[in-house]
Order: sequence, then structure tokens, then C-alpha cells
Amino acid sequence: MAQLREHWGSRLGLILAMAGNAVGLGNFLRFPTQAAENGGGAFMIPYMIAMLIIAIPLMWTEWAIGRYGGSKGHGTTPAIFRLLWNNPISKYVGALGLFVPFVVLCYYIYIESWTLGYSFFSIAGLLPHPDPSLPQSEYLKPFKEFLSAYTAPSITAYLFFLLTVAFNAYILYRGIRGGIEKFAKLAMPTLFILALILMVRVILIETPHGTAVQGLDFLWHPDFSQLSNPKVWLAAAGQVFFTLSLGFGAIITYASYIRKDDDIVASGLSAASLNELAEVILGGSIAIPAAVAFFGVMNAQAVAESGAFNLAFVTLPALFSHLTGGDFIGFIWFFLLFFAGATSSVAITMPVVAFLEDEFGFSRKVAVTVTIIFTFLVAQIPIFMPKALDEMDFWAGTFFVVLFALLEVIIFFWLFGSSKAWEEINKGALFKVPKVYFYILKYVTPLALFVILATWTVSQLPQKLASTDPQVWVARFVMIFIISVQFFMVYLADRKRRMRDEG
Ligand code: ALA
Repeated sequence: MAQLREHWGSRLGLILAMAGNAVGLGNFLRFPTQAAENGGGAFMIPYMIAMLIIAIPLMWTEWAIGRYGGSKGHGTTPAIFRLLWNNPISKYVGALGLFVPFVVLCYYIYIESWTLGYSFFSIAGLLPHPDPSLPQSEYLKPFKEFLSAYTAPSITAYLFFLLTVAFNAYILYRGIRGGIEKFAKLAMPTLFILALILMVRVILIETPHGTAVQGLDFLWHPDFSQLSNPKVWLAAAGQVFFTLSLGFGAIITYASYIRKDDDIVASGLSAASLNELAEVILGGSIAIPAAVAFFGVMNAQAVAESGAFNLAFVTLPALFSHLTGGDFIGFIWFFLLFFAGATSSVAITMPVVAFLEDEFGFSRKVAVTVTIIFTFLVAQIPIFMPKALDEMDFWAGTFFVVLFALLEVIIFFWLFGSSKAWEEINKGALFKVPKVYFYILKYVTPLALFVILATWTVSQLPQKLASTDPQVWVARFVMIFIISVQFFMVYLADRKRRMRDEG
């Protein structure tokens, strides 16, 4: 089966696709709001530590697990974990590598569709244009109302959702080289250029309330007293996970299309560096500085705390409509988000597609069609039930990603064997990973992940489980249904394999 699997066409294509997998809404929205809420410049200390002891080692682990699985014809964790750990439950643990990306996809793609819708409204001049002399709260009102009406959801929102799903399906139908790689080669440079243009324009903004440069000062001013607060450390760890798409299964699936002796140490670092450039430099220089220029430093904290969506879909369009050529600047902003979102959503669709192809022999077209139909159906829940969206985000996008990451490090480094795992990571590498990372991966990373998980379990789980909202219950039932279906599929796939092996 291995020889039938596709491969990336070039190293550049692979790095751009992996960077596209990572660079997403998280870079431009989640990062700046998290930094502003959690100590500003001081946030970068736990962020860098989490990057060095959790994110980078995990990133190499996922690349290595994926390449190893791909060389044996498997691109998803149910089968790969079985290869790494010969135990009947390993495949069910691996099912988490399908559950997490699928559940995240079902709401991520809907939010991505808002950015497409807003790109269209911006360029068509359909967003509100209130009188600039109005006081700030009055001025913001039509933008808030516009967002509420759009996400109600409106028919237009639904149409853009369908368009976004169709766009993702089109890229996936065309395969790894002809679809994802080609799209990444176009989308990633475009995204960087759009972000640069926007950054330069934002830095020049001055209003009677403030300047974007004051915004940079606000964002990066370190409040070291915050470092004694565990919440800040958890936020930093959560952010590095989300931004690099770790624990989503998506890196593993992409890596399964790498040739078996290709260098993953350097390629992995290059993709992660592109992500950090997009996050810290570009992501940090757009939304918050713009908000400070518009509201002034005094209100900027409140803006950051009002959340990433409010910042993206209310505050920034309101600010842009003040500026000359504001509709076009707004278009650049939303289209940038759309490209960032699309390169990530195709990546998180791939695990389920690859599972159907590798384990059941489905053709690419059938596998994509089945996955897209299920995504479309489950996405109705977050579309019509905002509280269900939050619940899905908490479990799949926050809790299970970390649990899954912990399990994959244990399986790779402790059950498969640390020396074999180390060899897998360094195979084909021009520059080997420094030996200190062997110990970090074996001891520090799993311990750090365990501490994060334990802290969340104690501090957030009781409160999460206490919710009895009907929408929350719907989300819970649907997630239990999804994991049950996935367990059953994993069981069938394994039975099929055993029957084949037995002749
Ligand atoms: N890594 C993706 C993002 O940042 C999921 O949005």
C-alpha cells in the first residue's frame, strides 16, 4: 500500500503547507488577545519556555510519527499507534487523532466562512459607515448589530459557509500535490504580503485617541508581576499548542506524505519559524495596535478582554471605516484571515480523509466527499448553537489536544522506545537535534503536559461539567456519538487488516 501513497512535490511545498497548517486565525486573533490579557511583554517568557520544552519537541515528534507511519502506508494515529505500540487498545487511543481534528473542523470552518463573508462585504462597501463624529460607543453599535445579524445565522452567512465548504472540498479533491501544496504555494506568500501591507498601514495610524505605536508599547510592556499567576502559564501553553496545531493529528497526516529519508528536523523548524514570524511579528503588530489607536490605551485592555471575535469583526472594521480606502483595507484584513483559516482547515480535514483512504481503500474523491458531508452535518450544531460551539472548543480544541499530545509522547518515547524514537526523528537530518532534547522529550515534555492537564482538570473541569444548558448537552451527545462512530470504524479497519494478514 505504501508505494501508492502520494508524496509532497518539493521541500518548499512541504514547508509552506506545514506552515499553512499552523498559521491560522490563532496567529492574528488569539495570540494578540492572549498576550494583552496575560502580562503583555511578560507573556513572552512563558510563551518561549513553552515553545522550547513543549512545542518544538512535540512538533518533531509529530513529524517523525507521521513520516514513520507514511513509510508503512498509514497516515493516521489509529494504525500508527498500533505499529508503535503492539497493544489492542493502542488503536482506540489513536482514534483521538481523528476525533480532535474532526470536531475542531466542524466549528473552525464556520468561523472561517465569516472571514470570507466579511471580505466580500468590505470590498463591496456593504459594512456600516457611521458618522465619524459620533462618540465611540455609538460608532461601534452598527458594527455590533451587523455581526449579530450576520451570525444569527443569516442566509448570507449560510451561503458563505457553503461556499467555504465547497472551496475546502475543491482543494482536497485535487490531492496533496495538486491541491494542498499548490494552494499553500499561492496562499502563504500572499498571506505574508497582505499582512505586511496591513502592518505598515496600521503602524501609521494616528487618531485623537492614540497611535498604533502606543499600541505596540501597550502590547509589549512587560508586567512581570503576572508571572506568578498560573493562569498566564496555562494561557501561554495553550497558545503554543493552538498556533502550531499540535495534538490535532494534522501534522502527523501531512508528515505521512514525506519521503522516508527526507530531513524533518530542518523542515519542521522552518515551518515553525514561519508560523512564529506570522504570529509574533505580524499578528502582534496588527489587531491590538490598531485597537489602541482607535480607542486609546485606557480602553485597550477592555477591547482585548472583549475577545478575539469582537476585535476582528467589530473593532477593526469600525477603525478601518474611519480611514481613507478603509473598505479595501478591511478587505485585506478579512481575506488575510480567510487564507490563514483555509490553509489550516484543509489540514485538519486531512486526518479523516487519509484514514478512509489508507484503512478502507476509499478513493480520494469518495473519502473527501464522505468527510465533507459529515462535516457539513455536524457543523449545523455550532452554526445554530453558539454555546455548543464553546463546548466543542473546550473539549476538542483545549482539553483533548493536550491529552492526545501527552499520549503520543508516551507511546513514542516510552512504549516504542526512546532510542528508536530518537533515531526516527534524526533520520535523514543534515543537522541532528541537540542531545539535550532527548531528555527533554523523554522526561520534561510529558511532565509539563501532565501538569497542564492536571491543573486544567482541577481548575476548569468541575465548572465545565456543571453546565446543564441544553445546547451544551447537544454538543456533548454529538461528541460522544462521533467518538463512538470513530471507535467502531477503527475496530472495522483493524479487523480488515487482521483478516488480510491472516491471508
Ligand atoms: N494553528 C491553527 C491556528 O492558529 C489552528 O489557527
